[in-house]
Amino acid sequence: MSDVNVITVIGAGTMGSGIAITAAMAGVEVCQVDVDQAQLDRAKAYHAKTLSRNVEKERMTPAEADEATARICYCTDHARAGDSAFAIEAATENEALKKTIFGQMVDTYSDDCVLATNTSSISITSIGDSVEAARDRVIGMHFFNPVPVMKLVEVIVSPATSDDVKARTIALSERMGKTPIAANDFPGFVSNRVLMPMINEAFHAWNDGVADPESIDGIMKLGCAFPMGPLRLADLIGLDVCRDIMLVLHEGLGHPEKYAPCTKLVELVEAGHLGNKTGRGVYDYS
Ligand code: 3HC
Repeated sequence: MSDVNVITVIGAGTMGSGIAITAAMAGVEVCQVDVDQAQLDRAKAYHAKTLSRNVEKERMTPAEADEATARICYCTDHARAGDSAFAIEAATENEALKKTIFGQMVDTYSDDCVLATNTSSISITSIGDSVEAARDRVIGMHFFNPVPVMKLVEVIVSPATSDDVKARTIALSERMGKTPIAANDFPGFVSNRVLMPMINEAFHAWNDGVADPESIDGIMKLGCAFPMGPLRLADLIGLDVCRDIMLVLHEGLGHPEKYAPCTKLVELVEAGHLGNKTGRGVYDYS
C-alpha cells in the first residue's frame, strides 16, 4: 500500500475546508473542489487564518505554512482529479445530491481511487449501491468539526467495501494526525446516533421553558464537563445539519417521538438562522 500523495476534497464548506487544510498540513497535496467560487474563496481565507494561527503559536514555521498553502489548489471542476488516489466528498447532507456526486466521481477518477464520504449519517451501503460497479471503493470517513482540532475519524464500511479500501482510509486518517475508529453502517453511525438526540433534547428543554439557552449550555458544560453546551455546539455544527441528521435518524430508525426534529430547531433553520456560518442561530454572533 503506497502513501497517498494527492487527494481531492469535494465541497469547500465547513467540513470540506477543514479536511483540506488538515491534509495539506500533513504534507498531502489537495485539490479543493466546489462548484461555488465564493465558497472556495471562504475556504482559502479559512486556510490562511488557520495557518497563521499555527505560525503565531510556533507550531509551524512561516516556510512550512507557505508549503502547506502551495499544496492546495482551488478548482470549480475536477481539473487534477486524474492524480488523486483518494477523493473525499463533503457536500451538503442530502442523499440524492451525494449520489449524484458519487456518479461523477466514478466517471472522473481512476479505477483505483478510494471514494470516501464525510456523511454524518447517510447509509454508506445506499451510496455504494448507487455506483454499483465501484461499491467496493465506497467508504465513510466521518470527520468532526473543527476538523483541524478534533482527533476522531469515524470509519464506516458497507458489506461491499474492500479490506484494502478500509486499510487505505485508516492509513490516510493516521497520516492526517487522526485516530480512526470503526463503526457499523446504521443511521447516524455511533457519533450522531448518540449526540444528535441529546442536542435535539436541548432544543426541547428550551422550547418547554425548562431554562434559557445560556442556562441549558451552562448546566451541561459545568455539570457534564462538556467543552461547550449542546445549543452552542449545534450552532457550531450548523442547525441545518442537525435538522438533516435528525431526519435521517427519524426515517431510518422509526420512533417518531424519539427522533423527530424539535420544532424550535426547524423554525430557526426555516428562518435562515443556521448558526456560526450565518452569524445567527440559537445565539447571535453579529
Ligand atoms: N478551525 C481551526 N482551529 C480552531 C477552530 C476552527 N474552526 N476553532 C477552534 N480552533 C482552535 C483554536 O484556534 C484554538 O487553538 P490554539 O491552541 O491555537 O489556541 C483551539 O482550537 C481552542 O479554541 P478556543 O481557545 O477558541 O476555544 P475552546 O478551548 O473552547 O475550544 C473547541 C474550541 C475546540 C471548538 C471546543 O469548544 C470543543 O472541543 N468543542 C466541542 C466540539 C465538538 O464536539 N465537535 C464535534 C461536533 S459533531 C461533528 O462534527 C459531527 C458532525 O457529523 C455533526
